[in-house]
Amino acid sequence: MKNLQIAIGSDHAGFELKSLVKEWLDPQVEVLKDLGTNSEESVDYPDFAHAVAGEVEKGNYDLGILICGTGIGVDMTANKHQGIRSALCWNKEISKLAKTHNNANIISLPGRFITFEEAKEILDTFFNTNFEGGRHSRRINKISC
Ligand code: RB5
Repeated sequence: MKNLQIAIGSDHAGFELKSLVKEWLDPQVEVLKDLGTNSEESVDYPDFAHAVAGEVEKGNYDLGILICGTGIGVDMTANKHQGIRSALCWNKEISKLAKTHNNANIISLPGRFITFEEAKEILDTFFNTNFEGGRHSRRINKISC
């Protein structure tokens, strides 16, 4: 994971898990850029999801991590970006498939429904799994409309 450049963002509901994830992940990657929010004060999740998705879409970061209460709002928002394939992951089996089959470039996490231990497993799997290509390349090329 040492050469990865990652952007991370959350709303207030994901702030606590994001803080724990940052502390754990920062020493393991080349760059971990936090695009907010910076407290548990109520904010609007699209503001932070667009910030992370925009940076990943432009190629400024390899991958993104987004966290809100359910993971749904940030996931929906990120997937409005043409260059983004965001996957809502709540266990490591799903995060493995999000990479092998979907080549997701953003992982969305449900901060109010998973523990930090679960988040570490999910992220470890996501960052250490490769896209399988082949028939899955054909399928992801059909996603955009
Ligand atoms: C915030 O209360 C909550 O709606 C948000 O974090 C997220 O779950 C939305 O999808």
